[in-house]
Amino acid sequence: MTAVLDQTPPQTVRLASLTTLGVGGEAELWTAETTADLEAATREPYRVLGAGSNLLVADAGVSERVIKLGHAYNDVRTFGAYNATSSGSDGGVWLGAATPLPGLVRRAAAVGWSGLEGLLGVPATLGGAVAMNAGTRFGEMSDTLQEVEMFVNGGLERLNADALGLGYRRSALPPGAVLTRARLALTPSSPERVQAAMAQVDAARRGQPKNKSAGCAFKNPPGSSAGRLIDAAGLKGLRVGQALVSPEHANFIVNLGGASAADVVALLEQIQQRVRRSGAGVPLATEWELWGFAPGTAATLREVPCALPC
Ligand code: FAD
Ligand code: EPU
Repeated sequence: MTAVLDQTPPQTVRLASLTTLGVGGEAELWTAETTADLEAATREPYRVLGAGSNLLVADAGVSERVIKLGHAYNDVRTFGAYNATSSGSDGGVWLGAATPLPGLVRRAAAVGWSGLEGLLGVPATLGGAVAMNAGTRFGEMSDTLQEVEMFVNGGLERLNADALGLGYRRSALPPGAVLTRARLALTPSSPERVQAAMAQVDAARRGQPKNKSAGCAFKNPPGSSAGRLIDAAGLKGLRVGQALVSPEHANFIVNLGGASAADVVALLEQIQQRVRRSGAGVPLATEWELWGFAPGTAATLREVPCALPC
């Protein structure tokens, strides 16, 4: 196990290689395996990276440290033991925040526990899924989440899920919190029933592209669908550089190979303007988090500040 304190110096990485969209410049990567690692890593301004599946990172990268939880926070291999641990006094099971959601969903189905089916196809870590309250119309993270453990203010704290402000693709974590573990309560079912529910989710996702992307670019406006609005404005196939509005699903921007963040931002802005002008009258807000863009670069986009004053 490599602790951050042993890393001399922490690695410099291109965030393009750690994000599903495959875009973004360099940052200093701090891999945390212990609470002591988190203490060391959080002494300077930082951001927290999960699976990088909901991020657009600037071509210049970010100047803050990027903290990623290491193997010690990945419990996917032990999850089959849920049966044995489910009778614990706090109910449910504690899992590390670096546990990959796809593996968790598969294993829950294999042992016949229900509650995570709606998250099939979401390529997140458990921590990122909690932070975004990831979901589909078949279910979201908040359905099973009971409690989290987080590193905040220099130590570990626990918080009930109902204090996390979870809503449609959002949470209100305390500033600077690094989620370390989450307690989930699943419902006993059977592998057959869970698989049948997952088949429905799979069918609903079949129209989504398989190319490199960060999932849906824009949130659905209340009572409407961003994908339908972008499609109706005739924007499928719109391209800037190597960034393309997917012909399969209009709310996905795909990287054809070597797209820059500047390409992607230009495309996002064109989509916003053209949907607004199309008469739909609905402003589209990004679902993605944007890292490393100067404030005002794209006024209607959502720049997310780093965890400490930078
Ligand atoms: P990241 O993208 O790495 O980070 C997202 C946010 O979470 C950042 O603010 C980050 O700082 C924070 N974060 C991550 N880990 C931690 C932690 N341990 N502690 C504190 N904060 C943390 N989303 C859906 O909701 N539904 C879908 O159906 C869906 N489909 C997708 C399909 C594809 C092909 C792709 C590429 C993405 C899809 N997404 C979907 C988007 C994405 O998977 C989710 O938003 C997911 O929750 C992001 O998790 P992550 O671990 O990748 O987080
Ligand atoms: N539509 C079009 N053209 C398109 C795409 C969609 O007309 O190009 C129409 C569809 O025909 C349908 C409606 O828009 O009538 C909704 O489309 P879809 O069923 O694909 O769902 P969505 O609202 O676009 C949402 C989530 C997805 C999630 C799916 C499955 C958002 C922004 N998107 O998509 O989440 O996987 O439902 O439940 O909430 C993500 O968040 O990254 C994501 C991929």
